[in-house]
Amino acid sequence: MSEVLAVEARRLRYEVAGRVILDEVNLAVSKGTSTAIVGPSGTGKTTLLMCLAGILEVAAGSIFVGKHEITAMRPAARAAARLREIGLIYQFGELLPELSPIDNIALPALLAGIRRKQAYDRSRFLLAELKVEALAETPTAALSGGERQRVAVARALVTEPSLVLADEPTGSLDSAATELVANLLFELPKNHSCALVVVTHNNQVAVQADHILEIGATQDEMAVNS
Ligand SMILES: Nc1ncnc2c1ncn2[C@@H]1O[C@H](COP(=O)(O)OP(=O)(O)OP(=O)(O)O)[C@@H](O)[C@H]1O
Ligand SMILES: [Mg+2]
Repeated sequence: MSEVLAVEARRLRYEVAGRVILDEVNLAVSKGTSTAIVGPSGTGKTTLLMCLAGILEVAAGSIFVGKHEITAMRPAARAAARLREIGLIYQFGELLPELSPIDNIALPALLAGIRRKQAYDRSRFLLAELKVEALAETPTAALSGGERQRVAVARALVTEPSLVLADEPTGSLDSAATELVANLLFELPKNHSCALVVVTHNNQVAVQADHILEIGATQDEMAVNS
């Protein structure tokens, strides 16, 4: 099978407030595969994800999302590419409490210009696939942590992204919900032919990934394990 890269980062450098946070970071993730990013707190894992998402601007290096070199784009074009190509999942779900779960899921699709009926049909399909269809209209604030994360996973998938980025998606969950959400996440690359990059402090989650990128104190320790 020929490998299609969903994301590739070459020699990334990121600086903030006079500090070098990322230096010479390389990463390549093919469609249909997952990579876990691990490493101690404060080493730049969230920063790396935000660079891959095109939310933070790198000081040096290049990032390709599919065939788009997002590091060469202007901010507006980068935001448009992000909306089309990338799904983001955060530690606490980060849903909008004023909107119902189904409205939260449909929102990125509507922003991406997908027709209302198609956006809601796909949102309902994803809710059913994630086995939380009964929660479509439940007040978002009433959802449990695990339910919130499943809605967040559905929201990340609604635009059919080629790349899903998750930052400690199980960080606020108990062990049963962690297992559920982790299983769900690691099924995504196969079921949705996207790539998954997941930042995690949880070793049980990290070992389920196809590859592990360890970012640590010294660049010599940085390794990609197959
Ligand atoms: N805007 C900023 N100004 C100053 N320092 C920043 C800024 N953003 C990030 N940093 C610093 O960059 C470093 C890396 O932060 P980052 O959030 O990427 O770490 P992390 O690996 O995700 O940590 P954790 O595992 O605790 O989530 C930290 O020392 C952080 O304080
Ligand atoms: Mg972080």
